[in-house]
Amino acid sequence: MIKLEKIGKSYKADNEWIPVLKNVEMEVNQGDFLAIMGPSGSGKSTLLNLIGFVDRNYEGNYFLEGNIVTSKNDADLSKLRNQRVGFVFQQFNLIETLTIEENVELPLLYDGWSYRETKSKVLELLEKLGIGDKGKKMPKQLSGGQQQRAAIARAIINNPDFILADEPTGALDTQTSNDIMNVFKQLNEEEGVTIILVTHDPTTVKYCNRVVHMQDGILTEEVR
Ligand SMILES: Nc1ncnc2c1ncn2[C@@H]1O[C@H](COP(=O)(O)OP(=O)(O)OP(=O)(O)O)[C@@H](O)[C@H]1O
Ligand SMILES: [Mg+2]
Repeated sequence: MIKLEKIGKSYKADNEWIPVLKNVEMEVNQGDFLAIMGPSGSGKSTLLNLIGFVDRNYEGNYFLEGNIVTSKNDADLSKLRNQRVGFVFQQFNLIETLTIEENVELPLLYDGWSYRETKSKVLELLEKLGIGDKGKKMPKQLSGGQQQRAAIARAIINNPDFILADEPTGALDTQTSNDIMNVFKQLNEEEGVTIILVTHDPTTVKYCNRVVHMQDGILTEEVR
């Protein structure tokens, strides 16, 4: 599904280019549940942003379903981002001034749905994720785990091809963290959603079927 070939990226700091991704080769198949591990500053989020069409300043080739993504313009990339990817973050990143329902509904509205059409779809998904009674609440009124469930709902409401989750359990206690990992696991096993998870936490890795390690911008796959 995703294929990265010889990906390189550098940032400029004090007139010097600092390499952050070095010759990264990676393939992700439909249905994979992949963990990216590695120390702070090793390039994990940089790689995730590139895979999620947020960043297009890099060297090498990115293929999605065999089509090259690398040369696409910003408008095409935003479209890919809206239709193909769901993002989940450590700090949930829900919009504080909107209700849970409105947060989850947003990607559908961006995609051209009318308000009338979205309601039942949003409610159904909130139910499925165990927060069916929270739709009218504001994000601040929910626990961390409930907010992350809402963020996952927002990430998958558009039926994306894959989910990119950047330390989604980093702000949660152990029990809640396991609950959230079980949500991901269920989506992966029962609906075949492809998940790429950045994590520091070895206990979340047992939910994944592949693990890659990032160290100083170099990616290696763990043989299991
Ligand atoms: N916009 C930027 N400008 C300059 N340097 C950057 C920028 N974004 C990231 N970097 C640098 O790139 C390197 C990799 O950053 P990245 O955020 O990908 O690391 P990470 O593995 O996600 O770390 P963490 O686990 O702390 O989130 C770091 O050295 C960081 O300082
Ligand atoms: Mg990071």
